[in-house]
Amino acid sequence: MRAEALPDSLVVVSNRQPYSHEWASGPVDGPIEDDDVTVSEATGGVTSALDPLMRARGGTWVAWASGGADMAVAEDGVVEVPPGEGSYRLKRVPLSDEAIDGYYHGYANQVLWPLCHEDTGRMWGDPTFWEQYRAVNDRFADAVRSVTDADDFVWFQDYHLALAPRVVRRARPGATLHHFWHIPWPAPSVFDHCPHARQILDGLLACDVIGFHTTVFVARFLRCVESTLPDATVDEDAGVVHYDGASTHVVANPLGIDVEGVRQRATAADTAAVRRRVLGETVPDPSIPIVLGVERLDYSKGIPERIAALDHLWERRPDLRGAFTYVQKASRTREGIATYRRYRQDVVAEIQRVNDLYATDDWQPIAYTERKLSTETLDGLYRVADVALVTPHRDGMNLVAHEYPTACVDGDGALVLSELAGAATQLDGALTVNPHDIAGIADALERALELDDDERRDRLERLQESVAALDSRHWVERQFATGPD
Ligand code: F6P
Repeated sequence: MRAEALPDSLVVVSNRQPYSHEWASGPVDGPIEDDDVTVSEATGGVTSALDPLMRARGGTWVAWASGGADMAVAEDGVVEVPPGEGSYRLKRVPLSDEAIDGYYHGYANQVLWPLCHEDTGRMWGDPTFWEQYRAVNDRFADAVRSVTDADDFVWFQDYHLALAPRVVRRARPGATLHHFWHIPWPAPSVFDHCPHARQILDGLLACDVIGFHTTVFVARFLRCVESTLPDATVDEDAGVVHYDGASTHVVANPLGIDVEGVRQRATAADTAAVRRRVLGETVPDPSIPIVLGVERLDYSKGIPERIAALDHLWERRPDLRGAFTYVQKASRTREGIATYRRYRQDVVAEIQRVNDLYATDDWQPIAYTERKLSTETLDGLYRVADVALVTPHRDGMNLVAHEYPTACVDGDGALVLSELAGAATQLDGALTVNPHDIAGIADALERALELDDDERRDRLERLQESVAALDSRHWVERQFATGPD
């Protein structure tokens, strides 16, 4: 490790963009007025960690032009953001429907996503997927080339962009290239299923530094390099790979959240109003305890097992019927993929089944909402919840597990957390569960509901301390403190 100042100017490259432009009421020919477009800010963990850095230091962010008006408001694909502030440049990469299908709905989310979440039965390797993944990575690399000089600093984000670093490296041999892989890295026996294992590793190893959330993912990555690339030399103790005449440092650097931001928003929230607004119809009793789940409708998140665990608990403990309501806040995601559409249907049907089984005239066991919530409302909802259930089959980190305890500013709240989420290796104080163990999830929820005050407070304090130690500002600093001398 070497201490290095943050680069003055940086190029960040990610699939998702931090700001997108949509037409307010249809495309406009000729000069565009402010009222013709609406701007929305992304809410994901990656963008909220990196946007403050870019605002403070300037530079360029390269990302997919996913908004309908994105290219129309840009000049040469570039807009100044945040709107009205213009602290840094956003270089947008427009993609055709065919490219999006093959690269995003295809290779990224039907090969790499299930592979890395060790769910290989869901992998589908249509030949066009790889073709488009390569082509789009080339497009991103072109965009990077167009905005960089010889020795610039480029930071690639996530599994959408495994190949672009190699292409950029050829054009910019003196640049410093970093990558952060936000999702899990699979065990070598699982990585063997990847039809393009060598190419994926070759692309990534063009970087000077590759970051993962945990030491487990680092160790697995190094073992995959060792078994897949005979030309590479791996120094496991130092976390360095020597390959193709260069060295890559592979580091564990857990991402966190903007702790103070969550705390402030939760403190400012009018919790009674949040309850009324979000849960008014389904949970009219303002005093019933709330158990909360918040996630994208992704099969890695373990939602059906959680619903089955609720069923199990209410069956085993009839006295807990009417004692709390489970609120599932869900977001639709990747709906161009049939598996995701089916998953949503299954979740909704399962919730209906459990509600039909246990509902009474004045109690709905599970409230389900797909409403888009502002971060203010979401942080308020976390504060309202007595228990949060975060039980993914696999997760790189899982930032809901960070946000929930941070938002419990009243000193009250308990977290049930999957032992297979990256967060479980970083956070202290959660009740951990195996996400496939339905009876075990039910037991942990029962325990969370019945913790005595001292233990509940002690666990929450430990959670809050461990989350604070991983604040996203440290993530950025740690990433740049590593690299070649
Ligand atoms: O966890 C990986 C990730 O890419 C996150 O960065 C992001 O929040 C999430 O998945 C959303 O996925 P998508 O960009 O496909 O909507």
